[in-house]
Amino acid sequence: MFIYHSNIFITMPKNIAIIGMQWGDEGKGKVVDFLAENVDVIARFNGGNNAGHTIVAGGKKTILHHIPSGILHKNKLNIIGNGVVIDPKVILEEIDTLKKAGVEVSPKNLLISENAHVILPTHIEEDKKTGGKIGTTSRGIGPAYADKAARRGLRFCQFSDKKIFSEKFFRENFFKEYLEYAQKLAPFMADTPLIISNNLDKSKKILFEGAQGALLDIDHGTYPYVTSSNTTIGGVCTGLGIGPKKIQSSIGILKAYTTRVGEGPFPTELKDELGEIIRMKGHEFGSTTGRPRRVGWLDVLIARYSARINGLDSIAVTKLDVLSGLKKIKICVAYNHNGKKIDDFTTKLDVLENCEPVYEEMDGWDEDLAKMTKYEQLPSNARKYIKRIEELAKAPISIISIGPGREQTIVLRKEFLFY
Ligand code: IMP
Repeated sequence: MFIYHSNIFITMPKNIAIIGMQWGDEGKGKVVDFLAENVDVIARFNGGNNAGHTIVAGGKKTILHHIPSGILHKNKLNIIGNGVVIDPKVILEEIDTLKKAGVEVSPKNLLISENAHVILPTHIEEDKKTGGKIGTTSRGIGPAYADKAARRGLRFCQFSDKKIFSEKFFRENFFKEYLEYAQKLAPFMADTPLIISNNLDKSKKILFEGAQGALLDIDHGTYPYVTSSNTTIGGVCTGLGIGPKKIQSSIGILKAYTTRVGEGPFPTELKDELGEIIRMKGHEFGSTTGRPRRVGWLDVLIARYSARINGLDSIAVTKLDVLSGLKKIKICVAYNHNGKKIDDFTTKLDVLENCEPVYEEMDGWDEDLAKMTKYEQLPSNARKYIKRIEELAKAPISIISIGPGREQTIVLRKEFLFY
């Protein structure tokens, strides 16, 4: 479909990649859930059960770790791509919980790539022993990806092949238990790159769902304080098996402030009472581990960096409502390092650990945004904040989220969304 905008016709996208712009927990799940209503396929491309998305199904709160949140919408195909690592025990629990809540889960609406790698108990044990200095989620993510890179990992197609799995693992104490998991999951296995390609050919609408955020990317993040997958746009191609030109649009998800779980540098971190206020108001506790998230001001160097390395088409700003009631709001616009001003984000730990953020201060607003449905209803200082982010991040803002509900979403530029 074409729409007329600023004197030109624009083709609205048939598929959109959803990418976290900070250190994860930006509210990707909420935006995916909002957009999923209008799509045919939701395909997750990276990470594993280190991710957590809280949803309410059948009046019950459920936390999804592997399964795309499109599962809650009827008649959508949910795909777990080859770039994902899967804990068979956890995904079976997720399927069970969903079924108990009355949600249909079958190979009709959930497929798992035959090339996705399996997280085994040995990976979890190793992560618990060695992940402490990074502050990992202890779910075995790093060790599973390490085995994949070292060419000794276990692909889903080998896991569900009784003969191969038995030959490799019959001596392990988890053998029997995991053999059973493999048989239960086998019907979900599919050649997912082929299925995605067929859907692209038929012009079906697809969401490519990322987990974590750009600064946790194994290549572009704050290494070694990162996760072990590509959370950035390239992960869509490798993690799902599609060509880059097939990605028609990308939306970066940017929380109106910054959070980080685990260790690693965080220039705008608020270690004071204000940080605690924002943490409580924004419910900033990990949905996978329950750990309190570290909280800080919005860092626009990060936003600009993410927009650049991902080539983002637009940005969705989330949790704007959490900032209501603050007298002053700060945006970090540069770093000072050894007397030198830095305008562009760097992943150099020495700089990030020893820089002073340079802030721009803006007036806050008192109004509760929860029930506002139009941009014009937002307090003028909230609108100024949004405009300033747009100018500084150098990417247009397409969505503003003002609460967890689907209806608490303001669309600013629909040309970047599905029709
Ligand atoms: P891992 O992914 O469990 O190996 O953890 C590596 C780093 O990424 C740690 O700092 C984790 O806290 C962080 N991390 C992993 N998954 C998420 C997520 O979904 N949200 C936020 N941080 C995450």
